[in-house]
Amino acid sequence: MRKFAAFLLVLALVVSIVPTARISAQDDGGIKCFTDEEATVVVAAGAVGIELQLAQEAAEAFMEACPNITVNVLETPDMVQDRLGLYLQLFEAESPDVDVFQIDVIWPGDLAEHLIDLRPYLTDEEVAAHFPAIIQNNTVDGKLVGIPWFTDAGLLYYRTDLLEKYGYDAPPATWDELTEMAQVIQDGERAEGNDEFWGFVWQGNAYEGLTCDALEWEYSESDTQIINPETGEIEVNNEGTIRAFERAASWVGTISPDGVTSYAEEDARNVWQAGNAAFMRNWPYAYSLGNADDSPIKGLFDVAPLPAGATGHSAATLGGWQLAVSRYSEHPDAAAAVAVYMTSYDEQKRRAIVGSYNPTIMSLYEDPDVLEAVPFFGSLYDVFINTVARPSTISAPHYNEVSVAYFTAVHSILTGEQDAATAMELLELDLADLMAQ
Ligand code: GLC
Repeated sequence: MRKFAAFLLVLALVVSIVPTARISAQDDGGIKCFTDEEATVVVAAGAVGIELQLAQEAAEAFMEACPNITVNVLETPDMVQDRLGLYLQLFEAESPDVDVFQIDVIWPGDLAEHLIDLRPYLTDEEVAAHFPAIIQNNTVDGKLVGIPWFTDAGLLYYRTDLLEKYGYDAPPATWDELTEMAQVIQDGERAEGNDEFWGFVWQGNAYEGLTCDALEWEYSESDTQIINPETGEIEVNNEGTIRAFERAASWVGTISPDGVTSYAEEDARNVWQAGNAAFMRNWPYAYSLGNADDSPIKGLFDVAPLPAGATGHSAATLGGWQLAVSRYSEHPDAAAAVAVYMTSYDEQKRRAIVGSYNPTIMSLYEDPDVLEAVPFFGSLYDVFINTVARPSTISAPHYNEVSVAYFTAVHSILTGEQDAATAMELLELDLADLMAQ
């Protein structure tokens, strides 16, 4: 019996790696099922904001079209390194328990060995519809290991009512302006009795989110990155970067709560959405939540590019998520059908309108329904296509270690454990060791 099961698994793997045209007879209203077999597909999905609800709704719609396939959506931890830990456990055990994985834009290189090639499940037109840079990011040794689902870029959220109240006619153009404006608004709001009011909230916990925020501070101040993606040079140890991190440390306990050094995205959003912050750095998903009917700040905020540093330009870190199919899945065709549907044009359009998730399908940025629901997808289009990427391709399969070293160093500056110059000197050495591996 066991041998038979093993045989089936091998067969399934062999079948899954033979690149054939996979458009099957079952095709309901544009939704492709790819197989007639009965299968249960487990999708490991994020649960930040309304992500989980959106994924569940997509699963329902898919099951209606492909009744032979049952889709179970599994909730995974919010913080990137926690989620990665869970995935690695499953991959190391070669577990068939999860079929479809929501993977971060930084993971294709680190996780490729555990994922199947999804290119055979897509038409040329479907592939060409996505931003080419994301397709390229997700292609490892010629294999498309993840279908782009949504893209992300860091943004500045600001309270339009409070800017007006304090006499500002535009959001801050530089980090120094932000520091000053945040302090003035915070002082004013506190003087009126709101003791819980803060100037600026962001992601300061020791995790991937801090890598994203810190790269924005670094790149906008000094034009350097963690590791230069072209040359492989480690660029963190320079005056501008040190200055940028010292400035961020000066926010802690002044315009940002002491607790910001344990904040992830949702912690920042909770303070912001309760009406207790003038500015927030976050991803686009916070826009539609902030404008929900039950939100105290509905209609009272807008988004802008993040402030510029000494370089004169701002920087937004590239984020985003893909759907991937595990090499250990016992139902790769059914799993691929789910991934293809969930990343499809219709689903990306729905997610953009309902949840302000940025499509990876370019034409949706010209779609009138999308632009009406999320006007900044049009007005800030340049921000989305001029992002700075984390060095995941050049450091693969060690990107996670690189990021852990970077955010640990930055976190130690924010908490005052180390001065910025020492932290960068040591980080440079650590990164050199990692890159020599
Ligand atoms: C967002 C981004 C992702 C990033 C994460 C950090 O989810 O899309 O790329 O790694 O935030 O917290």
